[in-house]
Amino acid sequence: MSTVLVFNDYGGPETQELIDQGSQLPGPGELAIEVKAAGVNPADWKFREGLLGEDGQLPAPLGLEASGVVTSVGEGVEDFAVGDEVLGLTAPGHGGIATHTVLSAEKTVLKPEEISFADAATIPVAGATAYDVTHQIELAPGQSLLILGAAGGVGLMAAQIGKVHEFTVLGVAGIADQELVESTGATFIESGDGAADRVRQVAPEGVDLLVDLVGGQPLRDMAPLAKNPQNVISTVDPSTVQELGGAAVVRTSEALEKITDVIKYGLVNPHVRARYRLADAQEAMAAVETGHTAGKVVVEP
Ligand SMILES: NC(=O)c1ccc[n+]([C@@H]2O[C@H](COP(=O)([O-])OP(=O)(O)OC[C@H]3O[C@@H](n4cnc5c(N)ncnc54)[C@H](OP(=O)(O)O)[C@@H]3O)[C@@H](O)[C@H]2O)c1
Repeated sequence: MSTVLVFNDYGGPETQELIDQGSQLPGPGELAIEVKAAGVNPADWKFREGLLGEDGQLPAPLGLEASGVVTSVGEGVEDFAVGDEVLGLTAPGHGGIATHTVLSAEKTVLKPEEISFADAATIPVAGATAYDVTHQIELAPGQSLLILGAAGGVGLMAAQIGKVHEFTVLGVAGIADQELVESTGATFIESGDGAADRVRQVAPEGVDLLVDLVGGQPLRDMAPLAKNPQNVISTVDPSTVQELGGAAVVRTSEALEKITDVIKYGLVNPHVRARYRLADAQEAMAAVETGHTAGKVVVEP
């Protein structure tokens, strides 16, 4: 038996509920786990709202990533065994915000013992995205990386990856998160009206790479600061970034293993700042849905 957070119709949070369902059996190329922690992401509420399409089967389970202990493996899975501690992306039709779930084996890695289950649950989506968005365009040490939305789950990890590579990192975030952004070694720039001018004061010559995690008008305001318009990468607003000459993030398969290693060696901290029990999973979703959480939110059954 498994308990999982689902939504019953595309729309608002009122369509969400925790339900009991049968055992979670892995199909070919999948593995079942007892969930220890699940990351909550903006993509979860966007999926529920129908912003990512409305053609899935309902009720639909929520949660794209989880860490836990393997309880069974599907046909063709050779790299994992029952009892292994793992982290990965959920398989199609399964949700991580649950007591038990099913992961795609090819999008799963062993959890190093140095990484807690809570931190591990943030790696497959936010961690791997932070890795991809900071590697899509190669910078050299000393070059400048500007992150718009630096205090969120992706932004904090992207800032720390930038420091590992010895980039000069500038992070745009709300004033409440100044200390948190500065703790990554980045130079803090307050978001809101005039943010682009404040960046200009710190980097009058412009920046070598702009990583956009916000989109819309804030992206339009910041984009002219990129010395080369192609060096603007967005995780959130593909049409605006392309219109401005930049590109949407391209997700890669190697990112999961690479960022897991970096976190294992303590070079990047996922900054889990809110932990919810499964019974309170709707509160965790609501917190992320505000769009103003700092660091990562996880649910622990
Ligand atoms: N394409 C992909 O594969 C992919 C993967 C992961 C994430 N994403 C997307 O990338 C975006 C960021 O993800 P996330 O997980 O980091 O989100 P998150 O944890 O919810 O963080 C969002 C952050 O953006 C900040 N923010 C909002 N408006 C801002 C502004 N005008 N200037 C500066 N900061 C601002 C918020 O801080 P304040 O409190 O200061 O507002 C918050 O800290 C989301 O839209 C997500 O869906 C895409």
